[in-house]
Amino acid sequence: MNVLKTLLIVLAVGTTTALTAQSKQQIPEVEALLKKMTLEEKIGQLNLLTPGGGVATGAVVSENVEAKIKAGNVGGLFGVASPEKMKMAQDIAVKNTRLGIPLLFGSDIIHGYKTTFPIPLGLSSSWDMELIKSTAQIAAKEATADGINWNFSPMVDISRDPRWGRISEGAGEDPFLGSAIARAMVTGYQGDDLTDVNTMLACVKHFALYGAIEGGRDYNSVDMSRVKMFNQYLAPYKAAIDAGAASVMTSFNDVDGIPATGNKWLLTDLLREQWGFEGFVVSDYTSLNEMIAHGLGDLQAVSALALKAGLDMDMVGEGFLSTLKKSLSEGKVTEAEITNACRRVLEAKYKLGLFNNPYAYIDETRPAKDILTAENRAVARKAAQRSFVLLKNENNILPLKKSAKIALVGPLADSQNNMLGTWAPTGDVKNAISIIDGFKNVAPNATINYAKGSNILDDEAMAAKINVFGPRVDISKESPETLLEEALAAAQKSDVVVAVVGEATEMSGEAASRTDISIPQAQKKLINALVATGKPVVLVLMSGRPLTISEEFDLPVSILQVWHPGVEAGNAVADVVFGDYNPSGKLTATWPRNVGQIPVYHSMKNTGRPAPTSEEFQKFRSNYLDAKNSPLLPFGYGLSYTSFKYSDIKVDKNVVASGEAVNVSVKVQNTGNFDGEEVVQLYLRDVVRSITPPGKQLKGFEKVFLKKGETKTITITLKPEDLKFYNSNLEFIAEPGDFEVFVGGDSDASLKATFELK
Ligand code: NOJ
Repeated sequence: MNVLKTLLIVLAVGTTTALTAQSKQQIPEVEALLKKMTLEEKIGQLNLLTPGGGVATGAVVSENVEAKIKAGNVGGLFGVASPEKMKMAQDIAVKNTRLGIPLLFGSDIIHGYKTTFPIPLGLSSSWDMELIKSTAQIAAKEATADGINWNFSPMVDISRDPRWGRISEGAGEDPFLGSAIARAMVTGYQGDDLTDVNTMLACVKHFALYGAIEGGRDYNSVDMSRVKMFNQYLAPYKAAIDAGAASVMTSFNDVDGIPATGNKWLLTDLLREQWGFEGFVVSDYTSLNEMIAHGLGDLQAVSALALKAGLDMDMVGEGFLSTLKKSLSEGKVTEAEITNACRRVLEAKYKLGLFNNPYAYIDETRPAKDILTAENRAVARKAAQRSFVLLKNENNILPLKKSAKIALVGPLADSQNNMLGTWAPTGDVKNAISIIDGFKNVAPNATINYAKGSNILDDEAMAAKINVFGPRVDISKESPETLLEEALAAAQKSDVVVAVVGEATEMSGEAASRTDISIPQAQKKLINALVATGKPVVLVLMSGRPLTISEEFDLPVSILQVWHPGVEAGNAVADVVFGDYNPSGKLTATWPRNVGQIPVYHSMKNTGRPAPTSEEFQKFRSNYLDAKNSPLLPFGYGLSYTSFKYSDIKVDKNVVASGEAVNVSVKVQNTGNFDGEEVVQLYLRDVVRSITPPGKQLKGFEKVFLKKGETKTITITLKPEDLKFYNSNLEFIAEPGDFEVFVGGDSDASLKATFELK
């Protein structure tokens, strides 16, 4: 009787395990290993630690890491300082633990490893998917050369709030563009074969909705309807999963009142069951423990909640390690749940080929030949050029002549420390080309009169908050008055002023939210004084977010937005300023007139009381007394040294059957004096539907090169799913009726065609 009972239990547990691992194919090697593992060893695999001494990316670092690895209590490490240290750690795991299970080595390679590319918001402004993919491939090649096999990227959080410092790490406001970029990055990192030592596991983050935190204040709460999530925020995560992302990182925020890290609806119902995700889920840095502060219970309670919700690996928190055994003995979790989580972690190791060769990624010969090569730097330069957005070109002063007499001024003109941008912990500022050096490289015959002109900001207390990773805001010993006089003297000696101004790198990024996103006062003074000299002024503007620049925009200045351009900053800026490359970037997040307009984005709804136009006020309409509805600069906006004319928009059918594609064609002519590239954008408006539609939404784009005078016909295909949306039952459907299509060079595009869906 007893034997039979035991047998039944074994069978039942076996069935649950098989059912949960369901449709997916089991890996015999992993199954065999699981059979040998003790409960403690399984729990150990769910523990991800950071030993410190490397790149600290959070407030705490793990202790006694070596002893924990030896005890079989660690599944992976991240932020390890060097390949030598990784080798030491792998040796302990492989040679000194009972089963010799290799470790995963993670890292944050957000925009390049040692070859730092522009910040992701900048890269997204290139609208060039091949280029973005190649930056991810290079990042993977360099990082794996140094032993890393798991990357905490891409960050695909949609954000419509530039107060949030981490808007810099993503692709901006739009889910269609964000999805395309998510695919490019995942396929770039992972390639076709994860056992290839030049590829690494991607980790799509932060699941989910992190970019929608209230007030743009980092780590804050999110509350959002399902209809909004599905239609506007979730697509890029799903695109990354569909592209094969091997892992997912949870976000710090709550979703529907439950922190993402313990949210079963999110991690199991949606991610695994609806989307079919088969990889593993890791928490963010101590986000498991942070559920205590969120108000969900003590460490044991939140750890059990997270495991049951579908979390597989606990980053730094050691909540799983310290409580799961107890929870199992108290019947609060099941062994099958622990085994499933462990299986997913082991499967990732298997996919990387680590069971065949735990040292596959530790190859001393690689760093010298793969990292920071001339070819990689060339791609960084190209990526930076293409990420810049020309916001204004007063009197077509740009491009400058290479023989010009230039006052090169501003606190960011000679600042290697601020070129790489936020979240570049693996890059080295010493490798960055400053703007002044780039000018000298590209235009050796120009006369450069340099002066700092002002500090980034004069407030010591603020500087201390920004300088956590090194001296980004360097307050000069000279007085602000003296700095200004020097800049004005440089301007007087020159024909044109180039002022490099904006944010220091750590004024955006994680835990760098701002309520005032204007150019700091110290620099505003400098800009105004320079303009008052009457010399033509070009602002090279750096930032990790859209800024509020209404005042500067009204001045007679030219503005080139360069984000934080990465390791080749100075060369790339000079390439564009001197016309070796004609700027082609377009904004991927709307630039508000002021903070009070936030959120403002291109796909806003009409409302029941739309303003007569976005420029005019009318009582009892949806508008402001003190500002226009239109933003300062719309999504998709960006100028070129040449001009483009759009005409002859056509749809290939006026009546479209369900399931059919629609081809939209348009003529684009380069009508100016330079060859150049244009991002042709297509926006769709679903005129009538069962839930309120956005005014218009990006649904297609193509970046094209046109020689001066050249005309091309561009055809963009709207696929059947581009006409679909999630209705109030969260069904993804297209509803019959009229559609309007707009094509142009930004989201204000007005060239229109229509069709009807039958
Ligand atoms: C916290 C950040 O939110 C996340 O993006 C990052 O990957 C981890 N720290 C690890 O450094």
